[in-house]
Amino acid sequence: MPDKAALAGLVETVQANRKYAGITADLVSRLAADALDRGLQGKAAVKDVRNKLHQVGGAYFRQTPDYASALAAIGSLPQSLESPETQSFCRAQMQAHASSAERLPILAEFFQTCLAPIAPVHSILDLACGLNPLALPWMPLASDYTYQACDIYLDLLALVDAFLRHFSPGSQAFACDLVAGPPPAAAQVAFLLKTLPCLEQVDKQISAALLPSIRADHILVSFPAKSLGGRSKGMPDFYRDHFYTLIAGQPWQVQEFTFPNEIAFLVTK
Ligand SMILES: C[S@@+](CC[C@H](N)C(=O)[O-])C[C@H]1O[C@@H](n2cnc3c(N)ncnc32)[C@H](O)[C@@H]1O
Repeated sequence: MPDKAALAGLVETVQANRKYAGITADLVSRLAADALDRGLQGKAAVKDVRNKLHQVGGAYFRQTPDYASALAAIGSLPQSLESPETQSFCRAQMQAHASSAERLPILAEFFQTCLAPIAPVHSILDLACGLNPLALPWMPLASDYTYQACDIYLDLLALVDAFLRHFSPGSQAFACDLVAGPPPAAAQVAFLLKTLPCLEQVDKQISAALLPSIRADHILVSFPAKSLGGRSKGMPDFYRDHFYTLIAGQPWQVQEFTFPNEIAFLVTK
């Protein structure tokens, strides 16, 4: 258990840099405590925490989204998910995050295929959402849907929250640190899209603990089929084996879907 003052000081120094200022303090504190527990101090501790934050989150930003302009634009979007204006706004925003950007060529196909067995969908809990909630227009939704989303980036969450509420007052985005556990919210389906490998960089055992504790009838879990650099390196086979090992012994049904950049599993509990 690190000294309280040393921990607070390390968190403050890490977050003094603009790139790390907008990340939920829960995760920064967890990583800082871990660095101090391993005996790191001073610059080495700061570097260790920032590197980890980059690996789990920062590396996915292709450019820093212009949150102020995007927030202003949301106010004047039509309240229709079918509108070409809404859809072109969503596509443009999703370009900023590598994870949603690489899904753009198959957006409709991805959600229509993976969610067909449970459509129309009434409630979604998007865990470690990134900018994926902006794919809402391409999801097979019930007319009274609600969408809840969480991630570690507070500025990204403000954008996602404004977007979700614009179309559905009962929807929202909020901060979470999934390494500490899932949020208490319940839903028909939870999304864990391309996220387990990130969480496992902080805690190797987290996936097996997280999946059973999510309060959803179904979980759509996916893994990248290519690295951020675009190389495949046998990733689909590796992650398929990993996923089935994780859920071994669970009485769950699984449907599998394969796309060029992503493999997905719809788990029914
Ligand atoms: C590979 S991206 C996937 C984003 C989104 N699910 C998608 O598929 O487009 C991983 C996401 O996990 C988030 N993340 C990383 N660590 C997290 C944590 N401990 N708790 C919640 N979210 C986390 C990152 O900020 C990032 O948005």
